[in-house]
Amino acid sequence: MKIAVLGYGTVGRSICKYIEGDSKDIQVAYVLRRPGKATEPFMTEDFDEILNDPSVGIVVDALSGRVDSYDYMKRALLSGKHVVTANKAAVAYGMEELCRIAVDHNVNLKYEATSAGTIPIVAEIVSTTHTNYLSAVYGILNGTTNFIIDKMLTEGSEFDATLKEAQRLGYAEADPTADIGGFDVKNKIIILASTAYHGFVTGDIPVFGIELLTKKILDDYAAKGKTIKLMGISVRKDNDYALGVVPCVIDMDSLEAHVPLNNNIVTIVGDMCGELKFYGQGAGGAPTADALLRDIYSIFNSVNIDVEFQFFRKLNYVPEMLRGAGYIGNDRVEGTLEEIVAEAKRRNEFVAFECPELFKA
Ligand SMILES: NC(=O)c1ccc[n+]([C@@H]2O[C@H](COP(=O)([O-])OP(=O)(O)OC[C@H]3O[C@@H](n4cnc5c(N)ncnc54)[C@H](OP(=O)(O)O)[C@@H]3O)[C@@H](O)[C@H]2O)c1
Repeated sequence: MKIAVLGYGTVGRSICKYIEGDSKDIQVAYVLRRPGKATEPFMTEDFDEILNDPSVGIVVDALSGRVDSYDYMKRALLSGKHVVTANKAAVAYGMEELCRIAVDHNVNLKYEATSAGTIPIVAEIVSTTHTNYLSAVYGILNGTTNFIIDKMLTEGSEFDATLKEAQRLGYAEADPTADIGGFDVKNKIIILASTAYHGFVTGDIPVFGIELLTKKILDDYAAKGKTIKLMGISVRKDNDYALGVVPCVIDMDSLEAHVPLNNNIVTIVGDMCGELKFYGQGAGGAPTADALLRDIYSIFNSVNIDVEFQFFRKLNYVPEMLRGAGYIGNDRVEGTLEEIVAEAKRRNEFVAFECPELFKA
């Protein structure tokens, strides 16, 4: 099967490298580059060339930026090509429209690589929901912030110095806002919750990052046998759900507390399987390319169109479903996650959320 890879950055190059070396079944027919950058014969600057080539079965989106990625994915699906993507911003933004186009055109839209790096969480959610009713999805979904918290805790460093180290090691972007502000996790929890609950969740959710985290806050929690991790959290009951992104108070004995460096852990809770936890590398060229390649091979091997059954529910956002305690400065505030995050933003102080619904702290 021939594929076209959009983008030739960390992830795009990793896919091409694997396919050149190891794949007999898949060939890269095109790599889309920006104008002036198509320096090799297999590269093109013209997306229409890819669309108009009937031998290209799958468009693999490894682009940065939401707007072009979304536009290209839409056009590829409309033209009857399968799409495999790593672009969480574009999928979280327009999952409903992209999925509907995929269903209407009888093609696959696969997005394993958007969430939790190489962890096969989308495939596991899809598989688990055949036999389970899922009532929660949550986890550490951003390697950069986990790296920062882990280093601050274990090495006793302050936030700014640790962020700089993460940037020097290539774990954090030059502009770290999406990671430390929680927006990257927001995209991922939207995608995972929609998949788990069989409907499209809202993008208008409470988000609080770790910019205001200090070593003292971590030390104070450690003295009480607890710690803090930035998490995407979501719960669901029938067609009602709530979700958000917030630093969570967790017990030092929990698995989440022991997730080191830039790794991720995701939990799903089902009525038959109970609590299932998935751990692994949450980012990086090879881990992300691996997730894309698994989606490519699943299309190549079966050509099952599996978008159709996934999103049939009309879901209602019910913020009251995520209630707990928020620790803001020296105060303990009870309320919904939405109320607690709004209060912390108003005060411009760090907040840690204790959520009895999801984990005993
Ligand atoms: N890296 C990871 O660990 C990771 C993990 C999970 C998901 N992802 C997602 O995977 C995608 C790619 O990530 P990355 O780390 O490979 O990013 P990257 O290194 O910045 O590469 C992005 C590539 O996209 C190209 N690009 C952007 N817009 C384009 C356009 N309109 N036409 C042609 N090329 C365009 C860039 O070209 P220029 O260089 O010319 O700008 C660059 O080659 C992103 O959506 C990211 O969120 C990445």
